[in-house]
Amino acid sequence: MNDKMIVTTALCYSNGPFHLGHLVEQIQADIWVRFQRQQGKDCIFLSGEDAHGTAIMLAAEKADLTPEAYLNNILSDRLKDLDGFNISYDTYHSTESIENKNICYNIYDRIKSHIVEKEIDQLYDTEKNMFLPDRFVKGTCPKCGAENQYGDNCEQCGAFYEPTELIDAVSVLSNTKPVIKTSTHFFFELKKQQNHITQWLKGAEIQQQAINKLMEWLKEPLQDWDISRDAPYYGFKIPGHDDKYFYVWLDAPIGYMAALKAFCDKNPNYDFESLWWDKKAPIYHFIGKDILYFHAIFWPAVLHAAKLPTPTGIFTHGFLTINKVKMSKSRGTFITAKSYLEKYPSDALRYYFASKLTNTIQDIDIDWDDFVSKINSDLVGKIVNIGSRCAKIIEKNFQYNIITEITCDEAKTLLNTIVQKGDEIKLAFQERQFSNAIKLISKCADLCNQYIDEKQPWKMVKDDSTINEAHICVSSAFHSFSQLMSYLSPVTPEMASKYAEFINSDLKWNMPYLKQLPGSFPRLFERLEANKFN
Ligand code: MSP
Ligand code: ZN
Repeated sequence: MNDKMIVTTALCYSNGPFHLGHLVEQIQADIWVRFQRQQGKDCIFLSGEDAHGTAIMLAAEKADLTPEAYLNNILSDRLKDLDGFNISYDTYHSTESIENKNICYNIYDRIKSHIVEKEIDQLYDTEKNMFLPDRFVKGTCPKCGAENQYGDNCEQCGAFYEPTELIDAVSVLSNTKPVIKTSTHFFFELKKQQNHITQWLKGAEIQQQAINKLMEWLKEPLQDWDISRDAPYYGFKIPGHDDKYFYVWLDAPIGYMAALKAFCDKNPNYDFESLWWDKKAPIYHFIGKDILYFHAIFWPAVLHAAKLPTPTGIFTHGFLTINKVKMSKSRGTFITAKSYLEKYPSDALRYYFASKLTNTIQDIDIDWDDFVSKINSDLVGKIVNIGSRCAKIIEKNFQYNIITEITCDEAKTLLNTIVQKGDEIKLAFQERQFSNAIKLISKCADLCNQYIDEKQPWKMVKDDSTINEAHICVSSAFHSFSQLMSYLSPVTPEMASKYAEFINSDLKWNMPYLKQLPGSFPRLFERLEANKFN
């Protein structure tokens, strides 16, 4: 039986279409997952919709739809996007599901002894008749004085605080000054878990940069965490209470489990309880740096209190900027997945992201001119071109036959180098150093192109005394090309599957030599037209 592993991406809020920021994470994780599968791992890849919370309730209300109808619309658009980008989830689930509800209630039961009730003061919008969630209040940061900050944390200085601490708070919903109202809330006793979290961090696979951030938060005693919200709210009701709901961030990560449960229910060879609850498979979460606190503090704390296994690793990425400008959920400066796909092929963005992604939490930038030139010069000009150039000569001069016994020393050296580089490329993929993997693959393509350019097989085919040498040259270059297609396949699955279809075989990590071209070489990748985003 193959090694099993569970990989997730964050469950995106269901309050709008996917944008390229979301795609950074999904592409990063998908490349890793496809790489793991190519190495023989049984990788269960999960995600889904984060369906709960006030934002979604209000968005549905605004669209004059029930939350369910609203969510269905979002989901069907999103499934098209995921398909368009070839994100290979095994299950794409939702937090608004029976699996999630059941597991959420089960976990709540298990953590009850860690929950205390407290009266709290909250901001209340007297026009909308509701308590205002953190994100629906804006005001001045009580720590650094930055204006126009949300009620939960400051984008300027990163401080976390209570909305009631905001200076000059205003309701985003009605633009009125909210009043303070008291109600009873449920708090998870986070500080009881403080030592455990610190311990857990030492063993978990988490980047040093993220650890540093977490250790800063852990220096102070952790505050108890409010896991309840007052009606009206869209979410799961707290058992035994009619007007109280679980806060969306309690049931959202439980959604990872719900997705696994749904996957196992459909695939009888997999057992949910043993996989997660008995920790029979490592669990890796891909997330953005903005939700590190939730995944590396709240989530393991809840799991530990529930006596359930904690994640094996948390892989945090930075934020996407476009031409150095921050994409923002609220400011509407984002490019949707759909609008990208109307302009360029998905593999191009996947390749471009891969060429920029490292395993740090640094932001990454898209520059559309650079994007077009990188795809055209590297992917098409350098890599794909090897295959089409050589195939043309093989077709025309050698009746589709390819030499598999390579006797020439130079050719052997080239082929050996490309196989040897495979170990470094493998390590780069494994460590999520995708930009290195792309550099190494590109280097291999350079060596191959140099070899072809030196030999000039298009000249050698014209002379009987050198035609055999030409055949060896294009054959070995073609074998090299095949190998590069395989190395690239986690990054560019669409191109890989076109190539796999052509040779009628899966792309194994170590590619066997093809004896014959099965037909005319397909067009694997078209040059991109100049910047369509200006
Ligand atoms: N619903 C929560 C996650 C719950 S997970 C149990 C959420 N949703 S989100 O839609 O706001 O973000 C989903 C993921 O996309 C997060 O990991 C977030 O960091 C990532 N990104 C959102 N905007 C992004 C960029 N501009 N750039 C890179 N990643 C971005 O948070
Ligand atoms: Zn601040």
